[in-house]
Amino acid sequence: MQQMGADTVAIIFSAPPTYRSRDSEYAYRQNSDFYYLTGFCEAHAVLILSPGTSTPVTLFNQAPDPKMEQWTGPRIGQQDAVNHYGVDAAFSIDQIDEKLPALLANKKLIYFPWGENSIRERMSKWIKQAMQNTRYMPWPDLTALQKLIETMRLIKSPEEIELLKESARISAHAHNHAMQFIKPGMMEYQLAGEYIHQFTQHGARDIAYLPIVGGGKNACILHYIANNDVLRDGDLVLVDAGCEYQYYCADISRTFPVNGRFTDTQRAVYNAVLNAYLAGLEKMKPGSDWTFVRSAVDESLKLGLRDLKLPGELSEYFMHGPGHWLGLDVHDAGPYKIDEKPTIFKPGMVLTLEPGLYINDWQIGIRIEDDILITEQGHEVLSKDSPILPEDIEQLMR
Ligand code: GLY
Ligand code: MN
Ligand code: MN
Repeated sequence: MQQMGADTVAIIFSAPPTYRSRDSEYAYRQNSDFYYLTGFCEAHAVLILSPGTSTPVTLFNQAPDPKMEQWTGPRIGQQDAVNHYGVDAAFSIDQIDEKLPALLANKKLIYFPWGENSIRERMSKWIKQAMQNTRYMPWPDLTALQKLIETMRLIKSPEEIELLKESARISAHAHNHAMQFIKPGMMEYQLAGEYIHQFTQHGARDIAYLPIVGGGKNACILHYIANNDVLRDGDLVLVDAGCEYQYYCADISRTFPVNGRFTDTQRAVYNAVLNAYLAGLEKMKPGSDWTFVRSAVDESLKLGLRDLKLPGELSEYFMHGPGHWLGLDVHDAGPYKIDEKPTIFKPGMVLTLEPGLYINDWQIGIRIEDDILITEQGHEVLSKDSPILPEDIEQLMR
């Protein structure tokens, strides 16, 4: 609200429930910005921030309804929203059309989730209503709310860092378990299921994203979520899987041999990726930025391609970025540029490092991906519990 300034208002919407088929819902997941600001996990809620007014934080949420609660479970309601969620006033969501125009009266600037067209129509209705009720109110400016929040979300608080550590710890453990669980002949989706089993057994109810389990040539497909092939003796498997622990994501990739032993060719490609990982890791420190990481990773991978005698450009074998911000979203909110310049790494930022090589002709795809916290001294690898050295992976699999 300090950033928003006077005579402004922000409108933040909860995530809509989504359906998998007919009336069967997907598990509900709150919108990350809404969760970041409120900790409030119910659907059908709208948060209003009006800095400088007598009720700066207003929540519209579901009203208690014993009949509905018999079917769908308890609701927090208005009283507990005020008592436990730091809001100054709470009203039933059924009253939003009636009450919101008054909250928009005489505001010069409205922050709202830009780009969500379904919301635009309701917004104009509310603004028109506000103008009808208010003399001399000019049409307010509208601006994207995301910009303010994403800058806040870029630096994690100590509490957020604890949750990210736990998320990475649980996910690293699941990778180690999978290395011991895998057997030639197993289906890729069976290995994916084992990750989810491990996540839940260790306290993480959700996955941060659909696990990618690609055996052999499937590892070259970057977002391979079909997971419907056999894991074959002699192939590598690339698994990109992370849990979501109390809303915070892990994003870890490990590549390991289905039968527990790398072939010479697989080991050579693996080591090229490992060298690029280590080169990138050196650039994970305060004062550095993504351009340093990118060039360290690229330079190292180019040397690797030369040693492997692979023809052509690096972009034919490595076609994604070296990493991204990590937090409430797996590809977390946060600017990659500030004032046209690359965002400088600072303590409290959390990001992934994920070099890879995808060689279609050899049916080998390898990615090593870890979750990294920038610290005063340099960095801490949050996913360090899972090995990345080929000999350590082989030993664990034995
Ligand atoms: N799992 C998605 C990514 O690595 O960015
Ligand atoms: Mn990633
Ligand atoms: Mn990943």
